[in-house]
Amino acid sequence: MTPKRVVVIEGDDAAPEAVRPTLALLDQLNLNIDWLTPPVGDQGKQRYGTTFPEQARRAIDESDATFFGAASGKSTAALFYLRFGKQTYANVRPVKWLSGFNSPLADPKGLDLVIVRENLEDLYLGVEGEIKDLDPLDLTSPFTREKITNMSPGRYALKVITEKGTARVTRFAFELARNRKRHGRPGKVTCATKYNMLFRSDGFFKEVAQKIAESYPDIEFETLIVDDFAHRLVAKPQQFDVAVMPNLYGDILSDMAGGLVGGLGLAPSGCYGDNYAYFEPVHGTAPDIAGQNIINPTATILSAAMMLEYLGFKPEAERIEEAVQKVYAEGRILPRDQGGSATTTEFVKAIKEYL
Ligand code: IPM
Ligand code: MN
Repeated sequence: MTPKRVVVIEGDDAAPEAVRPTLALLDQLNLNIDWLTPPVGDQGKQRYGTTFPEQARRAIDESDATFFGAASGKSTAALFYLRFGKQTYANVRPVKWLSGFNSPLADPKGLDLVIVRENLEDLYLGVEGEIKDLDPLDLTSPFTREKITNMSPGRYALKVITEKGTARVTRFAFELARNRKRHGRPGKVTCATKYNMLFRSDGFFKEVAQKIAESYPDIEFETLIVDDFAHRLVAKPQQFDVAVMPNLYGDILSDMAGGLVGGLGLAPSGCYGDNYAYFEPVHGTAPDIAGQNIINPTATILSAAMMLEYLGFKPEAERIEEAVQKVYAEGRILPRDQGGSATTTEFVKAIKEYL
């Protein structure tokens, strides 16, 4: 078998402190993987004068996947290439409570859901500007009947929902629900949008999702208003299986869902396109604890497990998940955010012992 090629981008601030021990952990598994480490962020800046040099783009293009730490400013160019350049439209964020996770919920048992966040559209197109530039469009608010340009000076941001973008991410969510159903989950997709206000954009997301749902009669489907979804997510998260939503809601609610199981230190993610995928923890770069060797690497380790599954190393992915599960269930050696006192190194060593 030809080796898989994986680009590693350690990311900024404390992120490398989670990525490096995770790679050392993967080293134990004798995986047939070639690791590529092109200079990105600060390293790219130092060597090539740019945070995302041509070499890095080429390495990504020649690889099967990227393993990404987290980006503050410096690695964001790479992150955006991994998203928009590689068309990774489905941002999959599993939120599963494991025994030993420090959840704030009275009863987190059975919490096992996945947020599938559309990853390329919505307000993330980056098209923003001055209200006065909209002048030629002669727009009027249907609610105030006021001309938008009369509200100038001010700024706008563009929200875009396309049929293609919505259909592919919804299909992804249904396939995921079907796959999970084979493993004992209920087989349900919840679509969360603000269709009662954003009739035409979010309303369209809902409409397209409803159409896709018709091809999956074996999967239960519901549409919720996103604020109602947020409330239910806190009140009884066990009612959800797979939830699909536009980009920004998915961004916000996946952080919130991570908080429900015990914090962002525990929330992994994978972003999938038709030809590429990259994997990163949901959390940011934790600059406040950089350099202290105390970052919780669980989200990074679980993202690595998602990556191994994507690359065809399913047994190895399962071994990692089981080792993580055991360390938490045992509760002896835990990172600080989980009520323990272990350093990152000590915690990863405990996982290594269960591998
Ligand atoms: C995430 C992050 C990013 C996002 C930032 C770094 C641009 O918060 O991956 O959720 O908003 O998508
Ligand atoms: Mn986010």
